[in-house]
Amino acid sequence: MQHLILDWFSREGRVFPWRYDSPDPYHVLISEYMLQQTQTSRIAERFPIFLAKFPNILSLSNASNQEMILAWQGLGYNNRALRLRDCAKAIVNVHEGMIPADYDALLNLPGIGPYTASAIMSFAYGCNISVIDVNIRRIYARLNGYSNPDEMSNKSIESFAEQIYPKGKSSEWHQALMDIGAQFCKANQANCELCPMQEHCLSAFNVRIEKKKVRRTEPSYRNIPNRIWRGRVIEFLRHTNEYRSEKAELLRGILGEPIDEKDQKWFEDTISPALIKDRLIHYDSHTNIISISQ
Ligand code: ADE
Repeated sequence: MQHLILDWFSREGRVFPWRYDSPDPYHVLISEYMLQQTQTSRIAERFPIFLAKFPNILSLSNASNQEMILAWQGLGYNNRALRLRDCAKAIVNVHEGMIPADYDALLNLPGIGPYTASAIMSFAYGCNISVIDVNIRRIYARLNGYSNPDEMSNKSIESFAEQIYPKGKSSEWHQALMDIGAQFCKANQANCELCPMQEHCLSAFNVRIEKKKVRRTEPSYRNIPNRIWRGRVIEFLRHTNEYRSEKAELLRGILGEPIDEKDQKWFEDTISPALIKDRLIHYDSHTNIISISQ
């Protein structure tokens, strides 16, 4: 099966700007950091623009908060932008600007967890390492006859992952699985008839799709999660003169007219402290001016 999948990947693998032979580890770091939270199509669009602005680890490490936040437009959670810059700083200061080819050293960097560390080891450095993200976990569970990943223990998935990937081809294998997970072996739909793994899969044509778990309700305001509102505040400020706004004007900008005391209190108690804590805004309580953090 390994040959079949590798052949399939060389013919049918998706083309992305971060996918090419022997990719620059910096490009792998940036793309994997972005891909942790946002759809591939969006990243494919924004990745070249981001690289044009920050072509290497040194330029990224020197970026101000404001430059990072502005460059992160369309890429999801803004605090991750600052964490990526902090990661670049640590690479420059601790590793002389070289992205470490060492799993434990990678794990010690800001914003890098087990998945991203293994992805960098595999995709940037071609190391023999298994890479497990949610899609790959689901595929491995299904290959073993389970419809859903929760039915197979982490330990079993990890030992299966370790033995199944073709040694020397970790990068191609795992990125092939990501393409299969994104296009055929999806969480809410299994298109087994199109899947190159169908003959080797114990769940083929027999996948039970679980109903979506109800998400725990997030803290919300006017039926919209505060998380979304925080993003809207930053998005509003991105389009203001000098990236700053008077508070009432900002509230009108995101909530629409009219705004009342309840809106002001929600913003003061909930939204602005979270954005300040994430280093995303500065709030001058004397002038009521809110600005994107410098
Ligand atoms: N998601 C995370 N990393 C990816 C990659 N290298 N290709 C496609 N999707 C991904």
